Amino acid sequence: SASEPLKVMISGAPASGKGTQCELIVKKFRLVHVSTGDLLRAEVAAGTDIGNKAKAFMNAGQLVPDEIVTAMVTARLALEDVKQRGWLLDGYPRSYAQAQSLEEQNIRPDVYIVLDVPDEILIDRCVGRRLDPTTGKIYHIKNFPPENDEIKARLITRPDDTEEKVKSRLEIYKKNAESISATYSSITKKIDGSRSKDEVFIEIDSILTQLQNNKQKGTNLV
Ligand code: AP5
Repeated sequence: SASEPLKVMISGAPASGKGTQCELIVKKFRLVHVSTGDLLRAEVAAGTDIGNKAKAFMNAGQLVPDEIVTAMVTARLALEDVKQRGWLLDGYPRSYAQAQSLEEQNIRPDVYIVLDVPDEILIDRCVGRRLDPTTGKIYHIKNFPPENDEIKARLITRPDDTEEKVKSRLEIYKKNAESISATYSSITKKIDGSRSKDEVFIEIDSILTQLQNNKQKGTNLV
């Protein structure tokens, strides 16, 4: 269709399920997934300048300085695929300054999805999380174990997924959440992220489908 593609922001505490839901959203809606965590981990793995600057902050469970992350996101959102397919921004903005820098560039989402999950569940999800470095897929030792022994053997644990670092990441998230959500209050959809991944996706799917239909009709109401 000739209508503009969807622009979606997904937010929530560490391990609230952003990456997991983004896999499902991308499969159905074909948006370009821009995850600052994934982009930064790729920079670290490749040993780039950005990666070398970011690594110590990430491993300590702290935020990487705004200017590094903002430059990276701005560059990614300027690429052609984003204009064609729309975007799904995951893990950004994470501070008031980051939200302001998007506003200044007139980059606004159609909807701001917040995954709401209680602290006890978050810690369990982080500590049990495993990543497949080959496919980028996210697993959990109890909730989503790997399909076979070959995958199981290559799974890795993130250095920032210890209980102690998760608690510090959670504190930072809570400290910043309010100042960011104020920017998007009129387009916010808060979702109970403590349910199964399929139940959470059904709700997100219905929000995005309705939004897409409205855009095609020329109205733009969340
Ligand atoms: P980032 O990668 O963004 O980490 P995060 O926000 O802490 O989020 P996570 O990746 O931990 O969790 P998630 O919500 O994606 O959950 P997932 O789907 O994996 O950032 C990492 C670091 O990079 C930051 O600490 C910072 O240093 C830096 N950084 C990134 N962005 C930045 C920015 N904008 N500014 C500055 N610094 C920045 O799920 C978690 C687990 O739970 C998995 O094991 C999964 O299988 C399981 N699970 C998921 N959903 C369910 C469900 N419904 N039921 C049961 N289990 C589930």
